[in-house]
Amino acid sequence: MSTNDDKTPLDTIKELGLARERLPQHIAIIMDGNGRWARQRNLPRVRGHVKGAESVRAIVTHCARLQIDTLTLYSFSTENWKRPREEVDALMALYVENLVRERDELMANQIRLVQIGRREDLPEDVLRELEKTESMSAGNRGLRLVLAINYGGR
Ligand code: IPE
Ligand code: MG
Repeated sequence: MSTNDDKTPLDTIKELGLARERLPQHIAIIMDGNGRWARQRNLPRVRGHVKGAESVRAIVTHCARLQIDTLTLYSFSTENWKRPREEVDALMALYVENLVRERDELMANQIRLVQIGRREDLPEDVLRELEKTESMSAGNRGLRLVLAINYGGR
């Protein structure tokens, strides 16, 4: 995240021609299309997931800048366990990697991470990094980043 440059949230809002009071308080995104993105480029699906994670990073940065209250990311549903084992493993590894790598940036930018969805079935390392990030960031007062992992469609 690069919210540490000279630009203030208000500059960004002005640049985009937006009125602060008309911005949403809560934005929710259902993540999709990673596989199609990769296929169009003859890349393995996992590369699409890596790219998706990069997009998430940019979106989080923008939401923090624009002082959005809550960003909810629907990233992995209970249905997604049916995917090939290697793909599920790669997705879980991406959670760990990104949670560890972005932790300092979350803290520097006052972002509070909260996970929603069934925790029980998550791999131990994902759970550990999630809980660590959640407890570290619990006192942050900026963007609330809600990460839906293992969420039900019903
Ligand atoms: C979103 O992209 C990632 C997850 C749901 C885990 P998809 O993997 O669903 O991408 P498509 O639908 O195959 O393009
Ligand atoms: Mg899909």
